[in-house]
Amino acid sequence: MVFQAEISLRLVPPYIESLEPYKPGKAIAELQRELGISKVVKLASNENPLGPSPLAVEAIKLHDNELHLYPNGGLELREDLARRFHLKIGNVIAGSGSEGIMSNIIRAFLCDDDEVLTSDGTFVGFYVLARSRGVKMITVPLRDFRFDLPAIASRINEHTKIIYLANPNNPTGTIFTRKEFDEFYRKVPERVLIILDEAYFEYARGNPAYPDSMQYRYDNVITLRTFSKAYGLAGMRIGYGFAHDVLITNLLKVKLPFEPGTLAQIAGIAALADTEFLARTRETNESGKASLIPALRALGLTVVGTDANFVLLPFDTESTVNDVYNGLLHRGVIVRPLRAFGLPNCIRVTIGDAGQNAFLLEAMQKVLEDAGVLS
Ligand SMILES: Cc1ncc(COP(=O)(O)O)c(C=O)c1O
Repeated sequence: MVFQAEISLRLVPPYIESLEPYKPGKAIAELQRELGISKVVKLASNENPLGPSPLAVEAIKLHDNELHLYPNGGLELREDLARRFHLKIGNVIAGSGSEGIMSNIIRAFLCDDDEVLTSDGTFVGFYVLARSRGVKMITVPLRDFRFDLPAIASRINEHTKIIYLANPNNPTGTIFTRKEFDEFYRKVPERVLIILDEAYFEYARGNPAYPDSMQYRYDNVITLRTFSKAYGLAGMRIGYGFAHDVLITNLLKVKLPFEPGTLAQIAGIAALADTEFLARTRETNESGKASLIPALRALGLTVVGTDANFVLLPFDTESTVNDVYNGLLHRGVIVRPLRAFGLPNCIRVTIGDAGQNAFLLEAMQKVLEDAGVLS
């Protein structure tokens, strides 16, 4: 059989054909294979350097004999979250990562003439999902590496249906404050849905200026959170969301009925109870931040202050970014260049544990020396 591209291509809508798919950070095994080196440190995807929550791992092992049964759509996790946050189960959704829920939001609430509005330099996963729906997306430049909420509000028009805000923002690590969000919210019509993506909430919640969206609920705001970061469960694909029950009921209509998987739900419930692990995660991040940021600055780099588990490093040119990225790769360190996020002159580095941070710093120093930036 001979395949004919023209025939298949006619089946593909133009906005899908031109779509740049999400490219995850390079995998450890891939780099080990490419370079034939054994020690590789991955600081590219904001994963937890401590590994997964031990209570989650234990729970997964206890329930592996239930895999022949279909899951129940995250019912018990939703119940648990509702109890913890003093909500009704109808206000809670669980899904395959917070990105899985985001994709259901795009499917459930966007019609063809609707527009989405967000910032440049935010989570690339949202850009990909919005583009895959073929709707118009308006983006507003960052200001000092932060969401410019007044500028975003000024771009709302009669077609705006969804505004996406990540707080802390990925990849900048910056937050908008409660005061800034309150001022912004007053300018948003009720017919516009705000997605408040709080994937890094656990790292930011100690900052008194941080607006924990669960402390004030609005009918047109949906909060998204995840077990992928602070709970170390990125590989399980489990996340959750909170919103008015009308929004959740309609999201549940488009969600795949058996999502999330059995073990993902079990892991999520156990991780929520793992307060010791969460505390250790936050401490590791805080001490990593306290040592890594000054050390990177001492190498002459600009480092944007962060409320998350990663830092943004702006460089003069994209060519320096490529030199630093490739130089670090050759020394066994994977970081994330940010062209796809709309920040081609920047690199994002996940804060690791003490050993990983030291390995990064040593490699960075050598790479900067080789590039003639340091002598
Ligand atoms: C801001 C933001 N939102 C959502 C996600 C996706 O998280 P999940 O693994 O829950 O799909 C990420 C992951 O990097 C993220 O940085």
